[in-house]
Amino acid sequence: MSNLRIQDVASKIGIDLFNPSLLEKVSNQLPSDNLTFRPLNSRDYDKGFLQLLEQLTKVGNVTQDQFLNCFCNMKTSGGYYIVVVEDLNCGKVIGSATLVIEQKFIHNCGLHGLLEDVVVNSEYRGKQLGKLIVAAIKQIATTLKCYKLTLNCQDHLIPFYENLGFKRETGNANSMHVRFINDNPVEQSRL
Ligand SMILES: CC(C)(COP(=O)(O)OP(=O)(O)OC[C@H]1O[C@@H](n2cnc3c(N)ncnc32)[C@H](O)[C@@H]1OP(=O)(O)O)[C@@H](O)C(=O)NCCC(=O)NCCS
Repeated sequence: MSNLRIQDVASKIGIDLFNPSLLEKVSNQLPSDNLTFRPLNSRDYDKGFLQLLEQLTKVGNVTQDQFLNCFCNMKTSGGYYIVVVEDLNCGKVIGSATLVIEQKFIHNCGLHGLLEDVVVNSEYRGKQLGKLIVAAIKQIATTLKCYKLTLNCQDHLIPFYENLGFKRETGNANSMHVRFINDNPVEQSRL
């Protein structure tokens, strides 16, 4: 199905980014019945998902079409597991984290997981939700049999992630970047 057709379906009926059964083991761990774990859905544009990400970093003026296109690119390429927490009382997404799977040739064609974009709405922080969302990502990485899960974070968050079992390995704890200034990324599907 072309991205255009998937986008039509996605905007009308709502599509999950990944199979929700991957969250079965963690589904009952949230502290309130009003909170639920689920995959990102194509209709989450209307549930405040991008406003939540604004609490993490700059998002920009992303239209619903751009959101759907991005969602469909992730869905068709595979390897994107964006977990969200919804507060069913207000119908808003109040927490999220992303697992990106990198297919390798090394490690017997192994899978390397990258933990990205962990964020909890400021009004819901301090209730263990950040911890539970990262635990959900670790559970998916385990189910997919990743050989490693990696993250980059600001220095002040090192204790948060150390609490969750992440380690700075001796001689292997550097994170390096080159930053590019680009407004219009190339559509991967056109390459
Ligand atoms: C970081 C963040 C996700 C934590 O979410 P949260 O729901 O408030 O965290 P939790 O309540 O699950 O905290 C779990 C534990 O980590 C500790 N913790 C939380 N934030 C911490 C921080 N910034 N530094 C150190 N420890 C922290 C808590 O005290 C708690 O400890 P406990 O288990 O001993 O009680 C949240 O503050 C946030 O969204 N920040 C803005 C976005 C951001 O910086 N994301 C990280 C990108 S790498």
